[in-house]
Amino acid sequence: MAHLALAYLDPGDIIIAPDPGYPIYSACARLAGADLYTVPVNEDNNFMPDLSLIPLDILRRAKMMIFNYPGNPTAALATKEYFKEMISFGLKHNILIVHDFAYSELIFDNNEPISIFHIPDAKKIAVEFNSLSKSFNMAGARIGYLIGYPSLLKPLASLKSHIDYGVFLPIQNAAVKALTSDYSFLQEHKETYQARRDVLFDSLTENGWNVRKPDGGMFIWARIPPHYTSLSFSLEAIEQGVVVTPGNAFGMGGEGYVRIALVQSDERLREAGLRLTSLI
Ligand SMILES: Cc1ncc(COP(=O)(O)O)c(C=O)c1O
Repeated sequence: MAHLALAYLDPGDIIIAPDPGYPIYSACARLAGADLYTVPVNEDNNFMPDLSLIPLDILRRAKMMIFNYPGNPTAALATKEYFKEMISFGLKHNILIVHDFAYSELIFDNNEPISIFHIPDAKKIAVEFNSLSKSFNMAGARIGYLIGYPSLLKPLASLKSHIDYGVFLPIQNAAVKALTSDYSFLQEHKETYQARRDVLFDSLTENGWNVRKPDGGMFIWARIPPHYTSLSFSLEAIEQGVVVTPGNAFGMGGEGYVRIALVQSDERLREAGLRLTSLI
């Protein structure tokens, strides 16, 4: 992702990215010497920022807009209409739309995964990232992919040919095996995370914490009581033996929230919920 920004942006260009959002989005801008313009992604806008509120001077300088559904840290989805809107917006203002679909296989309940390429015109202006980190538990192996029309991928391919033109072959072979499997693992994997979500959500809400139920992803994004900051709550949580991520690590819009990861067993998540609710 950072390389895509290097390939596309010059100093003075702008990346539009969600706030709160995965921290690499702001790092992308900094590494490329570009400026970051953030759009709020929160319960007030149903996690779908109003693109018509972006000022004209920003639109003139913007070269790239990044979105991420299911969102990290928000665990929220967008509608297909919103994806359509993003594509029309990208085409109108000639801004590359980058969809980060890292949690494509972790979508809960009756929600359908939406790829940017479900929108017919997307190939003219959009690319989509995915990674095997979440879907196939290959975090750390550094293997993922970018999908798009060849002319849109070319700047990245060209840059990467000078930097890191090949992932270690055994890892590529493992990824081939995963991607050409019958995908029965993915169903199991999703059920594991959905069950963890339910356990932690129930543990938090039964003990008096009003949190939003995640639509997908690996996290609960929880608003904290106003007498805490994200950091003070996270430090208190450590005292209780629970590690959460302070929401402001994902941008200013994350202040007042913490992100709780579903990366422990049901039993430990139930216990974590109990300990965390003793703080509120
Ligand atoms: C939203 C999002 N995008 C992309 C990634 C990148 O994953 P990786 O670098 O492991 O492929 C992550 C990992 O945490 C993520 O949460």
